Amino acid sequence: MLVLDHVGHVYSAGTPWAHRALADVNLQLPDRSRVIVVGPNGSGKSTLAWILAGLLKPSEGTITLDGEELSIAEGHTAMAFQHARLQLLRPTVRADVRFGLDLDDGAVDSALNDVALDPARFRERRIDELSGGEQRRVALAGVLVRHPRVLVLDEPLAGLDAPSRESLVQVLGRLPADLTSVVVTHDTEDAERIADRALLLGTGHIVADGPVAQVLTAAVTP
Ligand SMILES: Nc1ncnc2c1ncn2[C@@H]1O[C@H](COP(=O)(O)OP(=O)(O)OP(=O)(O)O)[C@@H](O)[C@H]1O
Ligand SMILES: [Mg+2]
Repeated sequence: MLVLDHVGHVYSAGTPWAHRALADVNLQLPDRSRVIVVGPNGSGKSTLAWILAGLLKPSEGTITLDGEELSIAEGHTAMAFQHARLQLLRPTVRADVRFGLDLDDGAVDSALNDVALDPARFRERRIDELSGGEQRRVALAGVLVRHPRVLVLDEPLAGLDAPSRESLVQVLGRLPADLTSVVVTHDTEDAERIADRALLLGTGHIVADGPVAQVLTAAVTP
């Protein structure tokens, strides 16, 4: 279980530019949770995502995984970004997915299957010759191949055309069962296909936490 206890975050603390992005966030995510995070621009969603992924140490409170303080070095949590191209550093799909890992082609193919990219068609393709949606799925395969326990995605559906968006929604609906996933999104149309629980943020606070349909209704009728 991933637990946030009184987590808050102030950017540039102690300077004239200090800005509070999160305050007193308390959250328990049991293993295999499927969560979406919604809320207006600037409400703290990305800040929360970075903290959940272990990429940002909150300035207040603690975040623990099974009672141990979360550390990125452990590799239990992972994040894939909206701008997938920034995360893809190798020339080909195969080289990128196995980047830094001693993996055989079977593991690479299995990760490509997880993101609905046919390994036979995509394994040797050049990253630069993929569409934006395909690049995003390769980045996700590169994360899944590491078998994180917690996967955090910030706006994975933003800017995709309808077919690419649909295939990514399908992928997110079929993530490995033992994974906890947290998806930050403004695109709530298919939210119930990718999550059963939703968090609604409002200016740095969790203002609703519950079943997706219930929280999304609260989000439109405050
Ligand atoms: N590096 C930073 N330094 C200072 N303030 C920041 C920084 N990053 C974010 N903020 C501020 O913290 C608040 C929360 O930002 P955050 O990016 O977490 O919001 P968000 O909900 O993800 O917004 P969006 O929907 O626009 O992506 C905002 O007011 C933002 O301006
Ligand atoms: Mg954001």
